[in-house]
Amino acid sequence: MKIRFTIISLCFLTIMTIAMSHSGGRATQFSEGNTGAPGDDNKTCATCHNGGSFGTDIAITLQDADGNAVTDYIGGATYTVTATINTTTTPGGYGLQMVGLLNSNETNAGEMEGASSNAQLAVVNGRTYLEQAGLSAISTFEAEWTAPTEGSGSVTFYATGHAADGNGQSSGDQAQSVSMEFGENIIESTVEFENDLFTISPNPVADFTTISLDRVVNGTLNIYSGNGEAIFTSDVNSSEVFVNLTDYPQGTYLVSVVNKENIVVSTKQLIKM
Ligand code: HEC
Repeated sequence: MKIRFTIISLCFLTIMTIAMSHSGGRATQFSEGNTGAPGDDNKTCATCHNGGSFGTDIAITLQDADGNAVTDYIGGATYTVTATINTTTTPGGYGLQMVGLLNSNETNAGEMEGASSNAQLAVVNGRTYLEQAGLSAISTFEAEWTAPTEGSGSVTFYATGHAADGNGQSSGDQAQSVSMEFGENIIESTVEFENDLFTISPNPVADFTTISLDRVVNGTLNIYSGNGEAIFTSDVNSSEVFVNLTDYPQGTYLVSVVNKENIVVSTKQLIKM
């Protein structure tokens, strides 16, 4: 009787422990933000994960589409946001949670997607959290980040993570909370016409063509048919725009890049075969 009770209790405890386990992430499994950001749940990883010493030191970086580290963002452009957990001695693994908020009103800033393979995304209270997908063997956690629209102002990323001893418990780990602010870089509108802002290849085109821009312009790219009708419009927040002209009649089209003030920055002719 006593043995059976013990076995049942053990099974129950094991099930409870598995149910309570959140090695797959505090937001995913508990709907909690524990990053230390304003408005997050009133705890961080350090509340429970402590007692270890690995020299934990977390760094947050933002890289543009060319892989350059930036301190400012351009509205609507895409970046890679990375949190790296540096240590002085090698731990048994890593855990992390990170969120990006607008400084102005502390709501979610832009959109994170495409988490690295050791991570996942979870939305809690309208905030998107990047967090570990199980105790991570890798010390970096990454996601693609599309910056908020122009005029959104500064953004702060908040990250809390830990170097874990890997004992499957919250003991023997060392956590840290950091935040990193990124300003907004509002590009002055260029009113000067630029002949070589973009190239179209192939041109003439039978179906698909690529428009490659020298630089990201805060504006739109439009394609007009011979009678002035806009047949294609796209934001120019990456250096390449793909266009499918399969369904359009043969003839001459006009490709035009306009800035946010609707001033034409550059134009070129496109021939559809
Ligand atoms: C309320 C207490 C508490 C908080 C806050 C907390 N954890 Fe945990 N964590 C635990 C406990 C208890 C365990 C061990 C049992 C389990 O897996 O749930 C654990 C386990 C883990 C594991 C697996 C560890 C291993 O050695 O296998 C990871 C990874 C992890 N937590 C990450 C985090 C991260 C990252 C944060 C902060 C964003 C965090 N935890 C916040 C209590 C907490």
